[in-house]
Amino acid sequence: MNDTPYLAYLTQHLSPGRLQHSLGVMDVMDALAPIYGLDPAAAHLAGLAHDAGKELPLKRMLEIAQAVNFPLATPCDQDPLYLHGPCSAYVAQHEMGIADPLALEAIFRHSYVGDGAPRSPVFCWCLRFADMLEPGRDWEAARNHLRPIIFAGRLGQAAHEMMAWLIPFLESVGATPHPAQRALQRKLADLFANGKNGVPNDQLPV
Ligand SMILES: [Fe+2]
Ligand SMILES: [Fe+2]
Repeated sequence: MNDTPYLAYLTQHLSPGRLQHSLGVMDVMDALAPIYGLDPAAAHLAGLAHDAGKELPLKRMLEIAQAVNFPLATPCDQDPLYLHGPCSAYVAQHEMGIADPLALEAIFRHSYVGDGAPRSPVFCWCLRFADMLEPGRDWEAARNHLRPIIFAGRLGQAAHEMMAWLIPFLESVGATPHPAQRALQRKLADLFANGKNGVPNDQLPV
């Protein structure tokens, strides 16, 4: 795949650190695609573009939210920490020309927002994990714990353990967990805690 036009866009719109992070997430998506049967080109682009809108000013993010009918229902929905998923999907589609619906859905939902059943829970979770596993990130202990579970195909168990880690982590850095994250944590704990059997990867809550 020729990444040049996408890289040109991101180089213009992201800081060097975030571009580096995006390339790291792209590499992890390349590695996860064959394990989880993802379309390799879509996985690659989703990793590369997943934070394409993260550095937009809040005013522009709120305009995009309105344009895509994203409901700003809770204070968290107006926080770039959560709003940047929908905004990045918008930028990926309208400014970078990415059309794959599963890639766009995963980008939209990687910040833990979005209603209804996703078309591909597997793609969505892979992108969240790639975002977390890329080697530039700080949380080395959590990454080292989750990586083998994720690479063994145990996406639901990894999702359960990740949410059990993520919510206290967000609180520890002064961020407010999104209500959807708390609901998701409860659902996954019901399915996977204490050695429960869970559900197949393609039925995971997102
Ligand atoms: Fe992100
Ligand atoms: Fe990211």
